[in-house]
Amino acid sequence: MKIAVVRETAPFERRVAATPESVKKLIKLGASVAVEAGAGAAANLADALYAEAGAAVASRAAVLERADLVLAVQGPDPAELSEGAILAASLQPYQNRERIAAYAARHVEALAMEFIPRRLSRAQSMDILSSQANLAGYKAVIDAAEAYGRVFPMLMTAAGTVSAARVFVMGVGVAGLQAIATARRLGAVVSATDVRPATRDEIISAGGKPIFVEDEETADAETEGGYAREMSEAYRAKQAALVSETIARQDIVITTAQIPGRPAPRLVSASQLATMRPGSVLVDLAVETGGNVEGSVPGETVVTANGVIIIGHRNYPSRVAEAASALFSRNLANFVETFWDREKGALSLKDGDEIIEAIRVTRGGRIVHPALQG
Ligand code: NAI
Repeated sequence: MKIAVVRETAPFERRVAATPESVKKLIKLGASVAVEAGAGAAANLADALYAEAGAAVASRAAVLERADLVLAVQGPDPAELSEGAILAASLQPYQNRERIAAYAARHVEALAMEFIPRRLSRAQSMDILSSQANLAGYKAVIDAAEAYGRVFPMLMTAAGTVSAARVFVMGVGVAGLQAIATARRLGAVVSATDVRPATRDEIISAGGKPIFVEDEETADAETEGGYAREMSEAYRAKQAALVSETIARQDIVITTAQIPGRPAPRLVSASQLATMRPGSVLVDLAVETGGNVEGSVPGETVVTANGVIIIGHRNYPSRVAEAASALFSRNLANFVETFWDREKGALSLKDGDEIIEAIRVTRGGRIVHPALQG
């Protein structure tokens, strides 16, 4: 079985889907691995390291030719893939429906790794959403600290005391929890909010203070998959009032709220921003799916009329490309290892397997995933 690893071509993408370490693991299974020259360069992984690990480093065309399995961070152009190839990548199927249709038309079997059923214990080592969100939460806090004209910890100096920064984290999934922990490690006073009541204890364990809207709707705010639902008008009004009370006192706000397949919920309005102190910093991790903060712009840092800084970097995991590539590659290698048939020396994607059924989006020339039908 030939496994191909290509250089990413999307703008702002510095990650790579295999590292020399993961290549070794794949070769040990019995696969042959071909890596496009320069694939790891943006993540500081030189071609020579891949060659030492046993990969054939070659041109893009040579790497993709007769590849049985293509590993990528973002899905490559369907026209480049051979018919019958399997593709495992972060395909963002809801945002890229046309591309998914093109993989189907090309008879590529596309596996959307973000659809891994994360709550299954055997799937956790393959969970790219968690591995990448964790790093995004960390880096968002570091970026905020960098843009902030004061400091995070309380400092008692001969010249007087500097007070600790107040950090408010909105949306406490994987990224939000890491943001709380990182801000705490830097010495900030942290509070956090979410719609899912289960996050209350998680906020406390990470060292934050929970700030919640309590009503009958919150009991039902979590779907079976563990995600948030889109909340009602009435809930949103209560949440906005609570945010208005809280936000004026915050120095740093990190927003991470997402609803799968839907635009990100708006959590901070322009009028709320206007109550914040000049020099306060917001980082909107949901900027690419519509933004949690009014006025955030993908790829830009915006300063409001009253001097509030809104950071909206695209592709946060790519900002820590070395660490993100290491974890993403392990997620993919763990996936390949789990579904590797040692006798045949090939990947075996068994029908009926809960993980395979969840991630397989195209097969036999058709879109097969129920969430993408129609
Ligand atoms: P996400 O990226 O979909 O959303 C981030 C957070 O924003 C979530 O906590 C969500 O509840 C919150 N949110 C959504 N709308 C909001 C609103 N209007 N106001 C405030 N907050 C809002 O979440 P992520 O990080 O992908 O995690 C989703 C779920 O998956 C969580 O329940 C997490 O615990 C679970 N999970 C479970 C794993 C496991 O069991 N091994 C592994 C990874 C995640």
